[in-house]
Amino acid sequence: MSNYWNKKINSIEPYVAGEQPAEGVRVIKLNTNENPYPPSPACQKALEGFDIASLRLYPNTDAMAIKEAAARAEGVAPENIFVGNGSDEVLALVWQTYWEKEYDQDKAVLVPEISYSFYPVYSDFYSVRCRKVPLRDGFAIDAADYIGVPNCGIAIANPNAPTSRVMPLEDIEKILKANPDSVVMIDEAYQAFAEDYVSAVSLIGKYKNLIVVKTMSKAYSLAGLRVGYAIGDKELIEGLLRARDSFNSYPVDRLAQVIAAAALDDRSYYEETRKKIIATRKRIAEELKTLGFTMPESGANFLFAKPPVPLKAETLYKNLKAKGILVRYFNKPLIGDYLRITIGTDDEMDEFIRNVREEIDNAKNS
Ligand SMILES: Cc1ncc(COP(=O)(O)O)c(C=O)c1O
Repeated sequence: MSNYWNKKINSIEPYVAGEQPAEGVRVIKLNTNENPYPPSPACQKALEGFDIASLRLYPNTDAMAIKEAAARAEGVAPENIFVGNGSDEVLALVWQTYWEKEYDQDKAVLVPEISYSFYPVYSDFYSVRCRKVPLRDGFAIDAADYIGVPNCGIAIANPNAPTSRVMPLEDIEKILKANPDSVVMIDEAYQAFAEDYVSAVSLIGKYKNLIVVKTMSKAYSLAGLRVGYAIGDKELIEGLLRARDSFNSYPVDRLAQVIAAAALDDRSYYEETRKKIIATRKRIAEELKTLGFTMPESGANFLFAKPPVPLKAETLYKNLKAKGILVRYFNKPLIGDYLRITIGTDDEMDEFIRNVREEIDNAKNS
């Protein structure tokens, strides 16, 4: 609290990001859903060909190179794409562009009770009333809970985080159909890892109230570059541009534009890395189940797993951390018995499993 801060800054509870260890400290980092593989070699090449003198000039405001590459990758027109400084920035603009202020009593944005913890933070920060919708058994999101409920908008991460569960596309379509006057935002940060799920981008053109948000931080291994984008009807994209141009007209720098466009155009590398991660995830899910863990079926690059009795999630988190293995623990109601474990390389995951096995033995013997 400070007298120098305004009321809002004094009252908000900011988002807490996963721990980032200091550069050079060797840890097995399975706590922030980064990709364990390097970005496409095309990014290195793009960097080598980059003309440093060009940094003298402001970048293209629309990040046109990314817009065009994303349009090719997603099978839409460039006018259907909005590019931002990480999908977190795109999400912040979604909140500011489409949803009503909190003085409108009936009109809350509906978010799943357990989801990306930035959603309630944006709601507070931008004074949008937020209603948390409870999940069903096994952390399922039920489309029926978003139908016939007054709202000014709907925000759903699919696959959801941190639960890793995937909602079928038919359910998203039901929500879109039932809420034609509200913008429905589907955050597909992890869509590349959901094998049987066709992206909601396939519904763009059919529903004017749909905005899909994607990131280059996960499947493209570019968390450090900060690039995300939204895909939607031209009218929705124009709204985001208006908000952006009232805040920061140049959110994506020149270097990021060149590197991200190269990554988007290398489809075979994208396919190769996402498939490697899916294969490792399946293997580790089976190994953890054999050790007595329970977890929902994951469509993401992480598992949301509950350790077997008598091992407690918090204890396992702390003990792994002491051994240089970072996973994410949320000390919160409903999810405090679970750990979110990002999928690393096969070697990293083998070391993780070896340490987990030791912890299970120690817990049983103590
Ligand atoms: C569901 C979800 N959406 C968005 C993001 C933010 O991604 P970005 O790195 O593009 O800001 C994350 C990051 O973990 C996430 O889990």
